[in-house]
Amino acid sequence: MTATSPRLKHEVKDLGLAPLGRQRIEWAGREMPVLRQIRDRFAQEKPFAGIRLVACCHVTTETANLAIALKAGGADAVLIASNPLSTQDDVAACLVTDYEIPVFAIKGEDNETYNRHVQIALDHRPNIIIDDGCDVVATLVQERQEQLADIIGTTEETTTGIVRLRAMFRDGVLSFPAVNVNDADTKHFFDNRYGTGQSTLDGIIRATNVLLAGKTIVVVGYGWCGKGTALRARGLGANVIVTEIDPIKAIEAIMDGFRVLPMAEAAPLGDLFITVTGNKHVIRGEHFDVMKDGAIVCNSGHFDIEIDLKALGAKAKEVKTVRPFTEEYRLQNGKSVVVLGEGRLINLAAAEGHPSAVMDMSFANQALGCEYLVKNQGKLEPGIHSIPTEVDQEIARLKLQAMGIKIDTLTPEQIEYINSWTSGT
Ligand code: ADE
Repeated sequence: MTATSPRLKHEVKDLGLAPLGRQRIEWAGREMPVLRQIRDRFAQEKPFAGIRLVACCHVTTETANLAIALKAGGADAVLIASNPLSTQDDVAACLVTDYEIPVFAIKGEDNETYNRHVQIALDHRPNIIIDDGCDVVATLVQERQEQLADIIGTTEETTTGIVRLRAMFRDGVLSFPAVNVNDADTKHFFDNRYGTGQSTLDGIIRATNVLLAGKTIVVVGYGWCGKGTALRARGLGANVIVTEIDPIKAIEAIMDGFRVLPMAEAAPLGDLFITVTGNKHVIRGEHFDVMKDGAIVCNSGHFDIEIDLKALGAKAKEVKTVRPFTEEYRLQNGKSVVVLGEGRLINLAAAEGHPSAVMDMSFANQALGCEYLVKNQGKLEPGIHSIPTEVDQEIARLKLQAMGIKIDTLTPEQIEYINSWTSGT
């Protein structure tokens, strides 16, 4: 249901869900000490006073904590969903009622609604865009050229978004700075690896409740997300096969102790397939033909293009929902293939996304990336900019401090040694 308040424009499922959302946002906040410190500083310094900001993110308890920090910093922020299935409706409701942040996001919204929300976000005439997958920036560049002059810059959360931004830069259409949050060490080493690893398996288990011990799980792609997923699948007792197209990543997978096969050979062996490549149709018609009866397929990459569901649909006599987020395709060859979460990211469709403790560092990067854009307004060239190393290191230091873990520091002798080249054997 869509609700519209005269006080604050928004589209959320049900404002009555706000009290539950508040409890869950506060629970997540306990695991986000770095973002909390940044929020407290923002509240004093107001770095975003006068700044209109759009955040296109998965609307989760963790994103809520980010939005609250940005608002504390003075931002005039609007939040929309970065995926039709990932919104937590109670969180969306609470942000509207308790924090007066306009949210346009409803779990299960159709593509038309999703795209309409992108347009509503652009109607806000943002100066800063936080994007997760580059949909807002791509729409701005294609359809709202007259707004480009308002833009200070964007920050991008995910690998897929960075790939799109690089293509935009190559095509000469990226006319403002983009901060690459994904490639910060305190982001991808933890969020992409441990976050995706845990939340993907969590989504699969919540959707199916299948036992993973003893199953053959095929992890398609061995980037940071694939590494984390394979690691956690092995931890649950599965036999893990990895497929890759990159020879270096394939060697990594082998030396991490996984079996590496081409998809054509893995397809008949897998009980469960998880795609995490960022590319299109990595599981397609010829693979479905040879899968075991009852094989389960799901995706944890950003877009729902990794599994060729159209090809699967064409082979099906019948498609039946057998549990929430679980659809069985009964094929003409007599076997069935089970698809989870409509091929959308299973960790957010059927579970709650990455745990707060990793999103703490990801969103600390987002918050500080936005502040960096504002502080350096007019000074950064159009193109893709890394998070400054000092910022990345500071986030790691704050995280360790919050975890109560101390580490060593270099002695003066060691500093001198690593800065000199004269002493060898
Ligand atoms: N991406 C993956 N997990 C997420 C989460 N919990 N919140 C926001 N974005 C995410």
